[in-house]
Amino acid sequence: MTISSSSFHLIAALVRRETAMVYEAGKEYLVEARLTPLATAAGCPDVEAYIARVSTDLVERRKALDALTINETSWFRDQTPYQAFTDSILPRLLESRAATRRLRIWSAACSSGQEAYSIAMLLDQHLPAGWTAEILATDVSTAMLDRVRAGRYSQVEMNRGLPATTLVRYFTRAGTEWEVSPELRRTVRTQHLNLADAYAFTAVGTYDVVLLRNVLIYFDHATKYDILRRMRPHVAPDGFLLLGSSETTLDMPADVAALWSREQLGRVQAHRPAVAVPLASSTRIGA
Ligand SMILES: C[S@@+](CC[C@H](N)C(=O)[O-])C[C@H]1O[C@@H](n2cnc3c(N)ncnc32)[C@H](O)[C@@H]1O
Repeated sequence: MTISSSSFHLIAALVRRETAMVYEAGKEYLVEARLTPLATAAGCPDVEAYIARVSTDLVERRKALDALTINETSWFRDQTPYQAFTDSILPRLLESRAATRRLRIWSAACSSGQEAYSIAMLLDQHLPAGWTAEILATDVSTAMLDRVRAGRYSQVEMNRGLPATTLVRYFTRAGTEWEVSPELRRTVRTQHLNLADAYAFTAVGTYDVVLLRNVLIYFDHATKYDILRRMRPHVAPDGFLLLGSSETTLDMPADVAALWSREQLGRVQAHRPAVAVPLASSTRIGA
């Protein structure tokens, strides 16, 4: 069975309103695959009936939204950003933050936590004694945030990008799963945050490195650039913003382009707060 176009539009509109993620026509099969287990568990005869229920039942609505966010992730995903972090970003921050010896990193669409914990592992290996680091992991999905806090992963998830030596060093067996060490868990703090919410960022401070990876692709053009506009004050003036490898900003509107500069770090292009041009040097008033 494929869901009717009216049900698809109803659920796609809900997802867009709540998360800004765009489900285009043709993704009916995906909605159906993701909602069928929830429909069965809720005692609904089919996904159509479940979608109708979601419009009035707030508990089921939260579950449906959690199921429809795309949570694809892996350890050290794409490798090159993590290489750039160790080879270029961290050495520079160790110099510039020598006075405070404190680093703040934000994984801004953290999914089940592999991104935040991958960074935590690198910090554990490369941060000199006497330094502290805080990693903030945020996501719109409360189910994903529960997973980050639990720090438990299936064997299939462990097989995706985690070197065997790293597994042995930071994980212990917990039944059929693997549990990340309490030390790493202590460095990662979770917070619910909807990137598309215009006021969401007021609750977070300024970060030395922000990972905003593989999430902008799910938004429309206006939402993507609104997020990049609002993100600017939350990246330290000498900080780094890392996007996903397929997330291009070449078509940035002029006002957003003025906020960011790009810097090649190995095989990764980082976004960095653009240095503001002092008014006096560009426009000589009265000249
Ligand atoms: C494909 S995963 C990317 C995870 C990780 N950053 C990576 O690169 O592996 C996308 C994540 O973005 C989250 N997401 C989707 N819409 C969001 C929104 N409006 N605000 C915050 N997170 C959102 C999803 O819940 C999902 O966990």
